Amino acid sequence: MDHLDTRQLQQLDADHHLHPFNDNAALAKKGTRILTRGEGCYVWDADGNKLLDAFAGLWCVNVGYGRKELGRVAAKQMDQLAYYNSFFSCTTEPTIMLSAKLAELTPYDLNHVFYSNSGSEANDTILRMVRHFWAVQDQPGKSIFIGRNNGYHGSTVAGASLGGMKGMHKQGGLPIPDIVHIDPPFWFADGGDMGEEEYGRVCAKRLEDKILELGPDRVAAFIGEPIMGAIGVWIPPANYWREIEKICRKYDVLLVADEVICGFGRTGEWFASQYYDFRPDIMTLAKGITSGYIPLGAVMFNDRVAKVLAEQGGELAHGYTYSGHPVCAAVALENIRILQDEKIVETCKNDTGPYLASRWAELGAHPLVGQARIAGMVGALELVPNKPERRYFDDRGKVGVLCRDIALRNGLILRATYDSMLLSPPLVISRAQVDELFEKAWKSLNETARELGMGSVGS
Ligand SMILES: Cc1ncc(COP(=O)(O)O)c(C=O)c1O
Repeated sequence: MDHLDTRQLQQLDADHHLHPFNDNAALAKKGTRILTRGEGCYVWDADGNKLLDAFAGLWCVNVGYGRKELGRVAAKQMDQLAYYNSFFSCTTEPTIMLSAKLAELTPYDLNHVFYSNSGSEANDTILRMVRHFWAVQDQPGKSIFIGRNNGYHGSTVAGASLGGMKGMHKQGGLPIPDIVHIDPPFWFADGGDMGEEEYGRVCAKRLEDKILELGPDRVAAFIGEPIMGAIGVWIPPANYWREIEKICRKYDVLLVADEVICGFGRTGEWFASQYYDFRPDIMTLAKGITSGYIPLGAVMFNDRVAKVLAEQGGELAHGYTYSGHPVCAAVALENIRILQDEKIVETCKNDTGPYLASRWAELGAHPLVGQARIAGMVGALELVPNKPERRYFDDRGKVGVLCRDIALRNGLILRATYDSMLLSPPLVISRAQVDELFEKAWKSLNETARELGMGSVGS
């Protein structure tokens, strides 16, 4: 590979690689950015640019790049036993140890784990297992999942169906039957004059209304991201999830928290169900479980669900070749050890998180920013045409992309969803790096405003 230059590599990529969530024709013309190295919160591209990655890859590199220990445990496990399956009454030691660790780490009685390779597959697993859970208890009609419009639960058939992204549903004839969606909380666009408490109750009531409309005997589960990531870091009112939990209990609807983004410290708590103080029956995990160093997903089931599946479910007709892969399990264990030993989650909660929040709030004062929202280490800036108005740009998405590209030129990676600039840095970000992030983001907002003809807005 050394003898190929960046342009040649881009050409090969354009010729042979279909990229996810991209207009591939446009991308082929523009050329992909080729990343070559990572260290801490920084990545370098093939042109030698050093970038502060304020998005942790794709919400996942929680311990930061370049942690040699993770590579070492992977190599050691590969040397010793590179693979064995967990199908034929078998397992491996790292898999056993990780299951026990996850049972200890996740809250409440989420004590039983099923492994997948990704968050999407974990959600596919949940769809099948939950329907099976009700069916073996003589309630096969209790099969409907309620998700939320604009939710994201992955790209597989069930994952994309559980999610509420209309653009995804259009491709492939989704959603599959018996999946419906309600509107999620997003105060900026939908909250009107309501205060947080009231808005939280109103949004939760949408679930109750939908359950009553469908009939509680038809509704199997409600699934949601505690904080909606992909759509733009939509942070719910503080009481929303507790209200949702009450409604689920009232109608015996299982509550699924998709913690693929929020899990493993993103909110400053280990899991967002702790941050919002609610008790899911099932939890989806991926991303931060290995800090993205190796693919792994998992479903945590509580005692009730696991007991029914084990004692009444018969043979579990479900599994992936790599369910419980020993190398992935070893890396996950080491990643969790790093998070624990270095008190990374506690530091986010008590030190760097509050500091990041205060600097993020300063960005909220920029004339282009209609709202600066943040929870722990995940946040967004909502770019708006006219600050006091809480209104989107007419041509949604253009300004976000402009700002994202300007930020990249300034050495900062932020993701844009429509005109929301999304933040999700490695959890190891230091105060000095938060300052750097602030400087680069402010500069990028200024340059974006200037390009839009909003005039100079200060240094
Ligand atoms: C909340 C949530 N669930 C599920 C997924 C899908 O995970 P994966 O891409 O590992 O399949 C994602 C991915 O971003 C996610 O944000």
